[in-house]
Amino acid sequence: MTSIPDITLNNGQVIPQFGFGVFLIEPKDTVAAVSTALQAGYRHIDTAEMYGNEAEVGEAIAKSGLDRGEVFVTSKLSNDAHEPDDARQAFDATLKALGTDYVDLFLIHWPLPARYGGDIAATWQVLEEAYREGRARSIGVSNFQPRHLRRLHGETQIIPAVNQIEVHPYLTQDEVRAFCAEHQIAVEAWSPLGKGTVLSEPVIQSIAGRAGKTPAQVVLRWHIQRGDIVFPKSVTPDRIRENIDIFDFELSATDVEDITLLNKNQRTGPDPDKFDGR
Ligand SMILES: NC(=O)c1ccc[n+]([C@@H]2O[C@H](COP(=O)([O-])OP(=O)(O)OC[C@H]3O[C@@H](n4cnc5c(N)ncnc54)[C@H](OP(=O)(O)O)[C@@H]3O)[C@@H](O)[C@H]2O)c1
Repeated sequence: MTSIPDITLNNGQVIPQFGFGVFLIEPKDTVAAVSTALQAGYRHIDTAEMYGNEAEVGEAIAKSGLDRGEVFVTSKLSNDAHEPDDARQAFDATLKALGTDYVDLFLIHWPLPARYGGDIAATWQVLEEAYREGRARSIGVSNFQPRHLRRLHGETQIIPAVNQIEVHPYLTQDEVRAFCAEHQIAVEAWSPLGKGTVLSEPVIQSIAGRAGKTPAQVVLRWHIQRGDIVFPKSVTPDRIRENIDIFDFELSATDVEDITLLNKNQRTGPDPDKFDGR
């Protein structure tokens, strides 16, 4: 395997462009899955308070023999903890569960425009505190639309380092990605495989056949060549190893374009403009 590229964020911190996502991995399966990923060479883990497996992520990292500084860890604020005092407590609880005194990246998980009076600025200011204290090395948001990001720009001091949004060949997110590029906000593509839905797509299968790679590897390579950060999830050891084996080939510009043309603005998850977090 050749090495995983780094992306430099707008605050100078560096994030591995490829990592491992743990959404919907049961706590009882998380130590094994994260351990397999670390053994396969992953050095970036994406968890969240709402996934209920932060403690097991921390346990797997502790058991791996790697130094804390060798693994980039992201977590995210729960939807029920946006009030500033709740957010402070929730952040403390994340560090405790992970067994660490800092996270590399902490995100507001959802903007929740219909809750908390839509006051995302007050919640963001708590993340700014954690950043200034050095307990979150970088801070960012997730599922934010341009209007939510504009609001933060107008009312707060620190520009989010990343925006983690749903992106895959059926949802290419041109508008949000362009806004983020213009404002030096890195894009993290969640559900990069569309939760598996894109893998039977004939265009992707045909490119995979030609490249001698699997459909999942082709889709993950497409994300990497578009410049987004990805962290596919799997509990299957062979797939965990398959997914990271994408740094020894390249898609042509035409292949990248053909996959991008599969867009149908089709989400697998909630619409951030409507989702109220419950
Ligand atoms: N910020 C947010 O709101 C948000 C929302 C959703 C996800 N995320 C993050 O993004 C990460 C990834 O997204 P995701 O878990 O929703 O979906 P995903 O990574 O697109 O897809 C995961 C699904 O694909 C299967 N799979 C994985 N590798 C495969 C391969 N090589 N071949 C065939 N199937 C494969 C997995 O099955 P098995 O596990 O059975 O192998 C699982 O069913 C999450 O874990 C989480 O960290 C963030």
